[in-house]
Amino acid sequence: TLAPAGDLVAGAAVAGGAVAAFNIITLEHVEAVVEGAERAGLPVILQLSENAVKFRGGALLPIARAAAACAEAAGVPVGLHLDHVKSPDLLRRAVDAGFGSVMYDAAHLPYAENLEATRSAADWAHANGLWIEAELGEVGGKDGAAPLDPHAPGARTDPDEARRFVADSGVDALAVAIGSSHAMTSRTAALDHALLARLAKTVDVPLVLHGSSGLPDAELAAAVAGGIRKVNIGTALNVAMTGAIRAHLTPADPRPYLTAARTAMAATAAAMIGALSRRP
Ligand code: G3H
Ligand code: ZN
Repeated sequence: TLAPAGDLVAGAAVAGGAVAAFNIITLEHVEAVVEGAERAGLPVILQLSENAVKFRGGALLPIARAAAACAEAAGVPVGLHLDHVKSPDLLRRAVDAGFGSVMYDAAHLPYAENLEATRSAADWAHANGLWIEAELGEVGGKDGAAPLDPHAPGARTDPDEARRFVADSGVDALAVAIGSSHAMTSRTAALDHALLARLAKTVDVPLVLHGSSGLPDAELAAAVAGGIRKVNIGTALNVAMTGAIRAHLTPADPRPYLTAARTAMAATAAAMIGALSRRP
């Protein structure tokens, strides 16, 4: 069933757990994530990034409607979330396309500009019934950029600044920089657990982890135990998909290798959802 992603995050928070949010690019991603969640018997979020919309030439509705149809048919609650939105125009297209929530990403801007842009996005989102996530302290590795130096200023979220940012912007959830980086193809990242503990104590909205593909299972479980309530995963699915296609590539019919790709992504999704509910 289709469910608001904000409700799924809130439900996970009440239970002291987290909901996995997977980035979708193709219909195979959508089907695989739903299958993985059904196998795990847990809710899941399908999230579409602004980059993935650009990949479709700016078209939002075809993939959004396909995802909504798969969510409605699913045996577990499935949220539909728009991820890493920078364009105010795309933000405004979210509601009609069936999204119940968005992540507005102005984390690349200096603090005051990030706050201003995020506050106006949050005002618009709430007036239109959307749950909104924002980011403070940029998680590196976006758009093919090299991962940020995790010790550079701004590459870590400051707890007091985060508390003020949430209060002044009115956002419903906050993505924090605690040592993960986007687009890692190896699961070798380590989180700053002391910082996460301070953030969880200081910030009174659910915390979101980005770049979670780079974390081993034990770090994922520890992140949830430490207060992360939404776990964003993209690259791990793409690694599974591309590996399966390479191994099963056929001269013409795409169905054998797309089947292999979907199977591999579903296994990855089920395993990572499982890792989130394990005790560290
Ligand atoms: O918003 C998307 C996520 O942060 C995914 O990051 O591709 O490194 O897992 P990832
Ligand atoms: Zn992200």
